Amino acid sequence: MAYDYPEFKKDVYKLTDINLDLYKERQMKRRIEALIDREGYKGFEDFFAAMKRDTALKNTFVTYLTINVSQFYRNPTQWEIFEKDIIPYITKKHGKDITVWSAACSTGDEPYTIAMILSKHLPFNNIHVIATDIDEEVMKFAKEGVYSKKSVSDLPKEFLDKHFTKLDDRTFKINDDLKKCIQFKKHNLLKDEYPKNVDIIVCRNVVIYFTDDAKDEVYRKFHDTLKDEGILFIGSTEQIIKPKELGFEAVKTFFYKKI
Ligand SMILES: C[S@@+](CC[C@H](N)C(=O)[O-])C[C@H]1O[C@@H](n2cnc3c(N)ncnc32)[C@H](O)[C@@H]1O
Repeated sequence: MAYDYPEFKKDVYKLTDINLDLYKERQMKRRIEALIDREGYKGFEDFFAAMKRDTALKNTFVTYLTINVSQFYRNPTQWEIFEKDIIPYITKKHGKDITVWSAACSTGDEPYTIAMILSKHLPFNNIHVIATDIDEEVMKFAKEGVYSKKSVSDLPKEFLDKHFTKLDDRTFKINDDLKKCIQFKKHNLLKDEYPKNVDIIVCRNVVIYFTDDAKDEVYRKFHDTLKDEGILFIGSTEQIIKPKELGFEAVKTFFYKKI
């Protein structure tokens, strides 16, 4: 029997825990084919055999596949709404000890941004950010908390001055008091158990890669994860089409309340 994408998907699931059936097929297949070509392999079978032998290649595959682009303070207008409207709403409802889940946090830019904004309004001890991603390589990077000048270039200066130490002309390190607010954990949104009792979930720029059914399932689980009237903050190219059916109500563009 010829070995093609269906066989490759099954093998990848066994090797990496990533179920490619739950990702949009056309987009993923094209991406993987481009990688196989770039790395100089003959096709799916040849590439899979190489990944089994070579952990570094397997990690390259996972990181490439999962598209890790992120940025501090990505889409500033939404972070302004987060600060001016969402934080006061949540502290009024649930008190001044807040848990936020940054789901699919990539290189850490997003959870650190969340903690920086919260720290303008709450003491560090009252800020709990759970930061998760499926990709162990990016989580390692995120935990280190060392960033290039370029990646922090869009951050408001007050955050850069307050929460980073300049290591040299091109490198900045996150300060420990901020880092302590964040708990990094490996987590697969399509497989693992979700946290409980979370005030706000920030999940941006990942469900766009999932099939519609997988996406709805993720939103249903987010509903169970949130405290009553908790908030889900999604990406700027995303929209929940029928929020009521999933137990949500839009409160602002890109912000939904659990109902
Ligand atoms: C484009 S980044 C988004 C980063 C950040 N949320 C942002 O908007 O800047 C997408 C992230 O989703 C992660 N990812 C992909 N599939 C996942 C899954 N099934 N479970 C958890 N994370 C996943 C990738 O590893 C990647 O770091």
